[in-house]
Amino acid sequence: MKSVTLHSPATIANLVCGFDIIGLCLKEPYDIMTLEWSDQPGLTIEHIDGYGLPILPEENVAGGALLALMRELEPEIGMRLIIDKKIMPGSGLGSSAASATGAVLAANRLLQHRFTNEELLQFAMCGEKIASGVKHADNLAPCLMGGVTLIRSIHPLDVIDIPSPELFISVVHPQIEVKTSDARRILKKEVPLRSAIKQWGNIGGLIAGLMKGDHDLIGRSLEDVIIEPIRNILIPGFEEVKSRSLAAGALGGGIAGSGPSVFMLSKNHDTAVAVESEMKAIYSRMGLDAKTYVTSLNSEGIHITHEAA
Ligand code: HSE
Repeated sequence: MKSVTLHSPATIANLVCGFDIIGLCLKEPYDIMTLEWSDQPGLTIEHIDGYGLPILPEENVAGGALLALMRELEPEIGMRLIIDKKIMPGSGLGSSAASATGAVLAANRLLQHRFTNEELLQFAMCGEKIASGVKHADNLAPCLMGGVTLIRSIHPLDVIDIPSPELFISVVHPQIEVKTSDARRILKKEVPLRSAIKQWGNIGGLIAGLMKGDHDLIGRSLEDVIIEPIRNILIPGFEEVKSRSLAAGALGGGIAGSGPSVFMLSKNHDTAVAVESEMKAIYSRMGLDAKTYVTSLNSEGIHITHEAA
């Protein structure tokens, strides 16, 4: 194999109550990445998206992930990575995870599946750490595996694929910046027991609702009493988006990852479109630029579009 081109999709981490442990893969948007062998040992990175992201491998999220993988190989290999980023960095939609995961999956294709999914996630977490300062896999796992994933544990890594009914997702991305590292710094380190009890009830309910295809249970469980009450102040219009989306028929939703995007889950496409209209109206009235779209659950994850032998 000479080169691999793939689509690496956006993801929504936390899924409201599952901070750092639950993630969901979206059909759109996705980054387009090509990885090819190079005669020169080491890694070169080219961004053709105009976001001005660092291209030094050790400062680049995809680069950090690939370097972690390449350190496992003898003799040293050479690779060239071209990234066309369509998931806006800092949107809360797993932009860094798409870069890190896409890069290591492409490398594994070139290396004829040398590494397991678990090893790929370990490498990808090294890239994710460059973006958010900590290793977490709640965007990486759904990007790699598709669908909804539960990170039961990071040490040791234990990722569980959660079967889910078809879901439609409305997303609004207010054009403000929220850095993941800042959104993590403001969180309290201690959680009152009564909040923890409520939260793990919701996490259990959400997982059961997904597995049973019980939309009412999914909706009831989309409640976060620990993280959202602290982070929602970073997102203008958040409460209104939530209340009007629920009134329009959404099952529920919340902050996408660490924000600023907000997402809502719906049972069908028409409801998701109605929710998107509410989102548009809210930000238009506030005079704040916001991008919206409707997509659906992606059960495949990363999609290989081309392999050149
Ligand atoms: N679980 C992470 C957070 C996702 O909410 O901080 C963002 O990278």
